[in-house]
Amino acid sequence: MKVVSTIKEVRENVKEWKKQGLTVGLVPTMGYLHEGHGSLIKTARENNDKVVVSIFVNPMQFGPTEDLESYPRDLEKDSKFCESLGADLIFHPEPEEMYHEDFSTYVDMSVLTEELCGLSRPVHFRGVCTVVNKLFNIVQPDNAYFGEKDAQQLAIIRHMVQDLNMDINIVGCPIIREEDGLAKSSRNTYLSAEERKAALILSQTIKMAKELVAEGEKDAEVLVAKMKKNIEKEPLAKIDYVKAVNGLTMQQQKEIKAPMLVAMAVYIGKTRLIDNMIISEDGQCR
Ligand code: PAF
Repeated sequence: MKVVSTIKEVRENVKEWKKQGLTVGLVPTMGYLHEGHGSLIKTARENNDKVVVSIFVNPMQFGPTEDLESYPRDLEKDSKFCESLGADLIFHPEPEEMYHEDFSTYVDMSVLTEELCGLSRPVHFRGVCTVVNKLFNIVQPDNAYFGEKDAQQLAIIRHMVQDLNMDINIVGCPIIREEDGLAKSSRNTYLSAEERKAALILSQTIKMAKELVAEGEKDAEVLVAKMKKNIEKEPLAKIDYVKAVNGLTMQQQKEIKAPMLVAMAVYIGKTRLIDNMIISEDGQCR
């Protein structure tokens, strides 16, 4: 496995692979990899001849008061992890490699980005769309892999690919959880022992919501109200949002029906965590 930091090096490698008719899978990440990323890399490994993992803490998707500086980084550990899963190339650029001094072109999306996380993180999705676009242009993958934990991000990227006629297959992979249910996230490392326990309120509330839907709850407002009430029982939790939206458009929905995303962002102390449940058109609720 190679670790490269320049766009030129990525292009040289990919060009060689494409010449040989090989398929390329891209797993875009911000590093500090965990089993959630692991499942994306494994899926990419199974379905492509070559696998590229990008590791880049993208400054453009962080707001001025967010955790860009403190975001955890460990390239050595990440490299070993990627190698153990059979990745072929890590692309780990410096910010200057991705954004020249005079950088001034952005990929901005309306509607889907204006709900849920977009409300409390107004610059976030412009940064995500711009960097993912750049990574797609640099790596030119056949397939790209994203986690369903960031379900709004996944919907936005699918929409961007459709809007901009990009010939890339976007693959969503299910949330990977700790044994006690907490969704795996690089930001879980910010939690103190007490906060780590309190953070279980997110997955417990998602589990409760799944049970309510399985028992026949059809009213999205009732579901969301019950979820909020449950989260409020945890003194360390502060709700950013709990919403039930159409899974494609991200617009609020009254009736529980597929495609649907029931998503939440909750602060546990200073750490903002997200979790969700997806009701897909094949009848699955996950
Ligand atoms: O999900 C992430 O880790 C990031 O938003 C992504 C897709 C790598 C873009 O920086």
